[in-house]
Amino acid sequence: MAPKKPVSEFKHLLQPIKIGGVELPNRIAMAPMNTLMSMDNRGFVNEQVMAYYAARAKGGCGLIITECILATQLAAKFPFTTNLHCYDVSFQPGLAELAETVHAFGAKIFAQMSIGFGRQGHNHYGESPPAPSVVPYGVEPEMMPKSFVKVVQKFPQAIEGAGGHTPYEMTVEEIRQQEDEFANSCKFILMAGFDGIELHAPHGYLEHQFLSPRSNKRNDLYGGSLQNRMRFLLEVYFKTREAVGPKFALGMRISADEHLPDGFTHKEALETARLMGEYGCDYVHLSDGSYEALKYFFPDRDGTMLDEARNFKKVVDVPVICPSVHDPKNAEKAIATGKCDIVSLGRQMFADPDWGVKVAEGRSGDIVRCKRCNECLIRAQMGLPVRCIINPNTGREKYMPEYWRPPVKATSVYKMNMPPRLPKHTVPH
Ligand SMILES: Cc1cc2nc3c(=O)[nH]c(=O)nc-3n(C[C@H](O)[C@H](O)[C@H](O)COP(=O)(O)O)c2cc1C
Ligand code: SF4
Repeated sequence: MAPKKPVSEFKHLLQPIKIGGVELPNRIAMAPMNTLMSMDNRGFVNEQVMAYYAARAKGGCGLIITECILATQLAAKFPFTTNLHCYDVSFQPGLAELAETVHAFGAKIFAQMSIGFGRQGHNHYGESPPAPSVVPYGVEPEMMPKSFVKVVQKFPQAIEGAGGHTPYEMTVEEIRQQEDEFANSCKFILMAGFDGIELHAPHGYLEHQFLSPRSNKRNDLYGGSLQNRMRFLLEVYFKTREAVGPKFALGMRISADEHLPDGFTHKEALETARLMGEYGCDYVHLSDGSYEALKYFFPDRDGTMLDEARNFKKVVDVPVICPSVHDPKNAEKAIATGKCDIVSLGRQMFADPDWGVKVAEGRSGDIVRCKRCNECLIRAQMGLPVRCIINPNTGREKYMPEYWRPPVKATSVYKMNMPPRLPKHTVPH
């Protein structure tokens, strides 16, 4: 069937781009979203996880960024609900299968790696989570998106007990141990055949908590000035860079602004990104707000972060990814006018995994538009695997043979990614 509209309408969106040494076929990324499809809360990849990502790769995303993967044992003790894990070698085979599956459908795959949720973490036993300081978080209704307030009125139980346990203050020794363990886990991702790693530093999670004077009240090397508040993120970055080597794509996600009194400001976020860019961070993926400022995190409107993205473009020389632009015309315009380099689609990917293919084939009018109703989010909040009110197949992809991995060609050989070799240690005598 002939395309209804010339593809040149989206020529910027469909142009390849490089992140570090990784060439992406287009400017369409899938935003990281925890889907609770690992089911068992042991954090392993399963058939459903693979088929779910395969659908989005097949549907035209040039880059899949996984849901956040908890990368230390301590982080995995305090999930918000159910996450993928990668803190020892047992997680590597499943992750390798996932990377191969996404590649088989033509996309690149980055792992979003989390060093923990900090004060926003919970566990079943009511234990205190680790944080920079003893400052619990709270959720105020006026900081929620209107759509979320509506869905909470429908399912009030979903936010019963919302707000965190009082965290404990991490010692310097524990901070450094967590950084080391995190960097080591990132090697598993590289060896599993992923194309890159995204440091998960937005949304009020642990790295963000260190950055923010609202949650970081320390008076040691990790608190006080912006330079000190950045130390944790920078140490995580440097240790990870050392673990994966200079050529492996390594980027970060950061909230463009905390939007709260005493919070991490837009100006500070720009300075953090500028410095990270100077130190060789390969891309900046934006988000906004935190659990306490949820309306910025899950906007009710298209393109709310584009003006902030444009400011990041002015301070870094690496690609800037901007989320929550669901309308392909807005996405094309954002890239054409230099507000961002890549768009990342979150909830829109639950509603229609074929967004990219429809754009590329001139069928953008056929895209099933996400209603931003947040029913998917509330299910996740309740600890259930994600579903979408307008796409009955989201969460059921493992039953759809078109998303099973095709057999590889007889001539294909596998390639193994190896971490850099450690310098030789002198044997003491
Ligand atoms: C169910 C759900 C889970 C999410 N999990 C993550 C996550 O693991 N890591 C992350 O950085 N963002 C996460 N997000 C935020 C999305 O990446 C995205 O920034 C946000 O949904 C706004 O984009 P959208 O309007 O396209 O959905 C999640 C969003 C949803 C709806
Ligand atoms: S349930 Fe579906 S339509 Fe509603 S916000 Fe989630 S993805 Fe969009």
